Order: sequence, then C-alpha cells, then structure tokens
Amino acid sequence: MRYLTFALTKGRLASRTLELLEKTGITCEEMKDKGSRKLIFTNEELKLKFFLAKGPDVPTFVEYGAADIGIVGKDTLLEENRKLYEVLDLGFGACRMCICGPESARSLLENRQLIRVATKYPNIAKDYFFNRKHQTVEIIKLNGSIELAPIVGLSEVICDIVETGSTLKENGLKVLEEVCPLSARMVVNQVSMKMEDERIRSLIGALKKVMQEDNL
Ligand code: PRP
Repeated sequence: MRYLTFALTKGRLASRTLELLEKTGITCEEMKDKGSRKLIFTNEELKLKFFLAKGPDVPTFVEYGAADIGIVGKDTLLEENRKLYEVLDLGFGACRMCICGPESARSLLENRQLIRVATKYPNIAKDYFFNRKHQTVEIIKLNGSIELAPIVGLSEVICDIVETGSTLKENGLKVLEEVCPLSARMVVNQVSMKMEDERIRSLIGALKKVMQEDNL
C-alpha cells in the first residue's frame, strides 16, 4: 500500500486537525515531540505521512500531488484558487471575511467611491469589489496587522478576517460589509481522489461521524 500524505496548516488548524484525526483512530505520535526538528512524520501502521506547511503553501502541495490531502482555511483556498477538490467543511476555525473600517467609511462604500482597500487577500478583495459589487477600488497588499491601514491613513477600508471582533473594537473599527463565512476545509488532489478513492472516502466518512458525535 502506498502512503497517503497530509499537508496540515501550521498552528492552530494543525492542532485541531490532529485532535479530530485522533478521534477517528488516526494518531501520529511522532508529531507530538515538540523538541523535534523533523519536517515529516509517519504512521507506519496506517501508511500515512504528515507534514506542516504555511497556509498559502498547502493548496500548492495538494495541487501538485506532493500531498494527497490538505487541511487549510477557506480564506486561503479562495485566495490561492488552486485546482483541487474541496471535500469537507471541518467546522473549526470558523470566522468571517469582512470589509471593515471606521464608521465614516460606510458612505464611501454605499456611494461606490474609488477607495483604497488594504488586505492580505488581494484576490478575494478584487473578486468582491470588481465582480460582486461592481465597485472600482485600489487594492493594497499587506502581510499582517491589516487593521493598522485605516488608522494610519494607508487605506479607507480593509478586507480581513474577523473572528471575535475584538481586534476591530480595540482599534475603533467596525464590520461594514460581510464577504463570506470561513472555516477549515479538507482538500484532495484530483488524481489522488481517483487513485485512492476508497481510502479517502472512508476517511471522510470517519471524520463526518466524529464531527456528528462532537455536536451531540
Ligand atoms: C487575524 C485577522 C485579525 C484578527 C481577527 O489576524 O487578520 O487581525 O485575527 O481576530 P479577532 O476578530 O478575534 O480579533 P492574525 O492574528 O492571524 O494576524 P495578522 O495580523 O498577522 O494577520
């Protein structure tokens, strides 16, 4: 039997994924050794391999077949737009992609003004403003602390992830429009889905079952 390889998003999503997999009986003891500098972990018994990657790289590994399966946020999937199958909403990591800014920016959005939008997600922002709202805007790519942009006058609004809303609140900003809901998704390489159909289907079934039990 060949190995099935998982690409997990480093950080909280990976921890939640490993918890969920553990409930289906899939464990990876090797991965729990925090002192280790190993990059790839194996479960020899089940013929599985796991590795951690930065979020935006997960869809790349899966599209090229370097990983059969990926666990990644819907925000990253929308932004990267890779050719792969999205097979399961894992429910955790739930948050929203929103257009945010000071209350004073609300009228600029309503009047479809030519405003600047700062974001870590230029493709999502472009799609939202150009294709859905038919509003011409200037998109400015940032790599973090997006909330700074309207505060220091880089942009009128931001397109960013809102989870609890506390970052916005503490910085005097508000959700002005909602782009879409987000959460962690399981994605599968298009060839793997055919070649490993049975193993992948049974994995999806097992995950669905433990997710249902968790909600009871
Ligand atoms: C994300 C997002 C917001 C914050 C939202 O940032 O960009 O800044 O979390 O969470 P909240 O609604 O619960 O306050 P992240 O912590 O990923 O860091 P970043 O600034 O580097 O993007």
